[in-house]
Amino acid sequence: MAKSSASFVCQSCGAVHTKWSGRCDACGGWNTITEEAAPAPLGSNVRRQKGRAFALEDLQTADEAPPRRITGIHEFDRVCGGGLVPGSALLVGGDPGVGKSTIILQALASYARTGGSAVYISGEEAMAQVRMRAVRMELSDSPVALGSATCVEDILATLEKGKPPGVVAIDSIQTLWTGALEAAPGTVAQVRTASFDLVRYAKSSGAALILVGHVTKDGQIAGPKAVEHLVDAVLYFEGERGHQFRILRAVKNRFGPTDEIGVFEMTGKGLAEVANPSALFLDDRNSASPGTAVFAGIEGTRPLLVEVQALVAQPGYGTPRRAVVGWDTGRLAMILAVLDSRGGVGASANDVYLNVAGGLKVGEPAADLAAAAALISSFSGIALPHNTVFFGEISLTGDIRPAPQPELRLKEAAKLGFTTAVVPKDTKTEVSGLALRPVKDVGDLISVCGAGEK
Ligand code: TYD
Ligand code: MG
Repeated sequence: MAKSSASFVCQSCGAVHTKWSGRCDACGGWNTITEEAAPAPLGSNVRRQKGRAFALEDLQTADEAPPRRITGIHEFDRVCGGGLVPGSALLVGGDPGVGKSTIILQALASYARTGGSAVYISGEEAMAQVRMRAVRMELSDSPVALGSATCVEDILATLEKGKPPGVVAIDSIQTLWTGALEAAPGTVAQVRTASFDLVRYAKSSGAALILVGHVTKDGQIAGPKAVEHLVDAVLYFEGERGHQFRILRAVKNRFGPTDEIGVFEMTGKGLAEVANPSALFLDDRNSASPGTAVFAGIEGTRPLLVEVQALVAQPGYGTPRRAVVGWDTGRLAMILAVLDSRGGVGASANDVYLNVAGGLKVGEPAADLAAAAALISSFSGIALPHNTVFFGEISLTGDIRPAPQPELRLKEAAKLGFTTAVVPKDTKTEVSGLALRPVKDVGDLISVCGAGEK
């Protein structure tokens, strides 16, 4: 019997397996593997022919970098590394409903208003829906060329007809399909082949391509991870439901720094840029109650102050509860263990809750000190000194380790009216108006928090 040419592909990460299983070994997703006809190699609809030799060049050849295409939505431009690069492909991923279509339409409308040519192809919404959204966002006067299509061949034929546009956005990759494949729309093979064709169009025409991709949970359709390797930059749009803040984060960027974030606020008229996010994240802070500490953090190239809140409560029955929003659960367990064994705090047996205010996700180890201070404060019932910021990494030995870019953090704190900074012991940076309280280990931190007698 002829061997079947089918393969089993994880719709979440694209890993290919030889047999079906309930869980993908590569990404750990459950029920994400589906059977697909053996995928044709990328771009295989081009007939194989004998290759032609091409000239190799050196690294010094001076190509004039074409100017970037500035959309005018500053937060968006900044996250892209200073505007869109001609001929590049950008992927904007995020949960459904987070605001991807909104930000893309705003960026295109703003770009078109300044005289650029922008094309928006929606595969999800009918033209009337897109227009309705534009009316609500007061963008309908902007000369964006609008299309509603899902077939890649149709899209390419349309784009190739006239002069290449400055920016073209496809919303979303999951709706795309190509007649060259038998696989159902939305599968990894379809999404990859269709995206690859569009990326190739962008490279050859010089149009800046924006692909929108939904993060998928059920595994029935391919997620943005399936095309991350094809594009030059990947931005993720994050935001907690119930919070109006949205954070656009660069996770890969061939033309700019990664980890750069842009902060937006969802309003009735679309997304508004937030120029001074620290002020916003610290808004209506109640610093008189125990259990809150301000972390002087860095996101990408920008300092950002956020409030870390902790609650150490009497345990119920059974295992103590731990709940964390906006921070890493493993990191909390580590900080609690270090506070107990190096500082003699004894909070581990309690229920512990930790929250980063405003819906931000903090990944920096330098947030340890603020989290620890909030925990100590909640456990001791003593509110932390007013107008104090914290940063520093806590090691397993209980020592406080230095954090990168102290100057940027301290300047931001001084700018927002803070007067004291609790910092790792070797921090030398002087910033006027800000007194430094260096701490060597968690013992020092406990006494700074006024909980020495515990
Ligand atoms: P949308 O951009 O359609 O999300 P995505 O493309 O990522 O799926 O955003 C949808 C949400 O944004 C929806 O819940 C409504 C909200 N929204 C506003 O609050 N104000 C607005 O002006 C717009 C356009 C959307
Ligand atoms: Mg959408």
